[in-house]
Amino acid sequence: MKSVNEIVESIDLYDPEQRPHMLDALRAAREGGCPFPRAAGDGEYYVATRYEDVKAIAERPDKFSSCEPALRGLPVSLAPLDLDPPIHRDFRKFLNKYFSRNYLLKYEGQIRQVGQDLVAKVARKLEEHGEFEFVHDFAIPFTAGALGRVVFATEDADLTKRAVSAVERAATEGTPEAFFEIALIAGELLEEVEKNPESRDDVLGALVTATVEDGRLLTDDERLGVVTALLAGGLDTTRSAMSNIAYHLATNPEVEGRLRNPDWWKVDLDEFLRFEPTVSFMARTVTEDTTIGDCEFKKGDRVAVNYMSANRDVEHFDNPDELDFERMGTPHVAFGVGVHRCLGSHFARIQLAIAYEELLSKFENFRLTIPKEETPRQVGISYNSVESVPITCSTRNVVNDGIQETV
Ligand code: HEM
Repeated sequence: MKSVNEIVESIDLYDPEQRPHMLDALRAAREGGCPFPRAAGDGEYYVATRYEDVKAIAERPDKFSSCEPALRGLPVSLAPLDLDPPIHRDFRKFLNKYFSRNYLLKYEGQIRQVGQDLVAKVARKLEEHGEFEFVHDFAIPFTAGALGRVVFATEDADLTKRAVSAVERAATEGTPEAFFEIALIAGELLEEVEKNPESRDDVLGALVTATVEDGRLLTDDERLGVVTALLAGGLDTTRSAMSNIAYHLATNPEVEGRLRNPDWWKVDLDEFLRFEPTVSFMARTVTEDTTIGDCEFKKGDRVAVNYMSANRDVEHFDNPDELDFERMGTPHVAFGVGVHRCLGSHFARIQLAIAYEELLSKFENFRLTIPKEETPRQVGISYNSVESVPITCSTRNVVNDGIQETV
């Protein structure tokens, strides 16, 4: 096995053997005078490990382009993720409205219903088996249900069902076929919307009516690209965050009390995301020779901006490897920074708040049913996120005067 310093010298963010030691290696790089380790694989790239450098790069889209935001490339275009200003600005201008907190709260009832249906299913599972598996029984169907409803927003019940199930398959299988089915459904819906676009005040309506650049409408590819970006950007990220929190809920006795605070998503969620950002890195391409810190980048160089590493930078976070809800100060970068800062951050917060509100209104006293160290962790772009969380818990009784007590 390689030592941490050897990993820094031959860093490979995709190497499964390096991954368990990656946080240590990134710390060694940050603190040991090698803040931009260079990877030989995947066409060669630098890794930006320090908070300051990650921020400096992400805030200069003119010098660090997002034209190829995934280190290993993308099979399809994912606007606005793979666009640079000025056209990127045009896309965000019409999309931002549909991902503002106020706008999204329009869907609160529907999202809550998704949560309540799943809580009922979980209750049946608990009754029959004494446990449930959080990621597949709750987090994946919840995030797919919420996203399907907001993005596809159709009154057609059959189509909603088809869309949610396609989104769920994209989340579990991630196969090209699953994304193709989504593209088909989106295509069908967009065709419908085109007949009467003014009747809709939602994402799909906007994709048909919005104009970019010199006032042109979006191309079919751009419209489908946005739908795919929303699904690709919204699924894994949110379900991983939800599942990581479930892991802490089932292993750390302090967490249940914190999540019972109705404001937890304002006061504690950011610390969960700092500690385990579910997008660990994104790629940029250097557009002209530029120096950041001591690193002289040449035009064409590739850089992975490592949000996970920035969130553990001791220059900005005391005891960065501890989950500490009392921490104040520097904002984390789990949602990115600069013009590409996450479009769906309010949506993620709303989903997480509703999911845990529904779950905790029915259950309490969450525990893992396997030893903590055996919890499988996911590999891929979402680093350090749990793959399955087998849980047991007790049912809460709500008495008539609204005071809750345990059975
Ligand atoms: C906890 C949940 C989430 C996390 C941690 C997260 C993280 C991120 C990060 C780090 C970026 C910046 C990418 C970059 O620097 O290149 C980003 C961008 C983006 N996210 Fe999220 N995301 C989450 C949820 C969502 C949701 C629910 C949606 C949509 C429904 C979404 C849609 C997007 C889109 C479209 C972009 C591209 C924005 C742009 O390029 O202007 N995300 N997200």
